[in-house]
Amino acid sequence: MAEGGEVRGNQVTAGRLPRHVAVIMDGNGRWAAQRGLPRHAGHQEGVKRAKELVRACGEKGIQVLTLFAFSTENWRRPREEVSFLMRLFEANIRSELSALIENNVVFRVIGRVEELPASLQEEVRRGEEATARNTGLVLNVALNYGGRAELVDAARRLATRVQAGELQPEQIDEPLFAAQLYTAGLPDPDLVIRPSGEQRLSNFLLWQAAYAELYLTPALWPDFTVEEFDRALAAYSSRKRRFGAL
Ligand code: IPE
Ligand code: IPE
Ligand code: MG
Repeated sequence: MAEGGEVRGNQVTAGRLPRHVAVIMDGNGRWAAQRGLPRHAGHQEGVKRAKELVRACGEKGIQVLTLFAFSTENWRRPREEVSFLMRLFEANIRSELSALIENNVVFRVIGRVEELPASLQEEVRRGEEATARNTGLVLNVALNYGGRAELVDAARRLATRVQAGELQPEQIDEPLFAAQLYTAGLPDPDLVIRPSGEQRLSNFLLWQAAYAELYLTPALWPDFTVEEFDRALAAYSSRKRRFGAL
């Protein structure tokens, strides 16, 4: 239950470092608008912060970093913005691959990858394959990710196994359910960071974030430097995590 934290009496302090940090990278468009720039300039700047954060997490010894980059709802945006983002993801996975390998990062994409453009899927596959045997930071990039879609997919897989007679409904428990999710085998996020001043999850890690500590900040994602991240970690380390106990 301590989740790597420190037990004091019945309370659990969050401990020095979260094992798993998850970030909703929001506010790129507003950052660009503030400067009179097109929205894509905000996305480009946001990518720089993502790279810095990956490096910082690796150096700090954080085990897992999950970055929300594109939701199942983001297809509702104008076609040009969606296609810009898809090209941005593809180009950056390609250009970062050698650095990810060098920094011992395990690169993964979580989400309905099969609905992404074919050339992006290919880059994802190459990146995952080339880093699968690394042993450092696990970097999940959530692309075409939706928490509800993930839960529906998990329910379908379990229903299929029940229908095939391989599984009894009573055997479905929380660990078995969690094992169907994209994050199977990884610790749940201890800390969910949302920049940009919004105070919602926007369909991010609905199951996994059940007991995550939330850190909401008005800073826009392109302004979320490593110093901002250090502030989030300091806030996390002073939280009392109770997990329902007293
Ligand atoms: C987050 O920034 C990036 C994506 C959702 C792809 P936004 O593009 O949502 O920026 P705002 O919220 O409009 O400022
Ligand atoms: C959440 O941001 C998704 C990502 C950062 C990828 P949105 O900008 O899509 O969220 P809403 O629409 O403000 O809830
Ligand atoms: Mg937004």
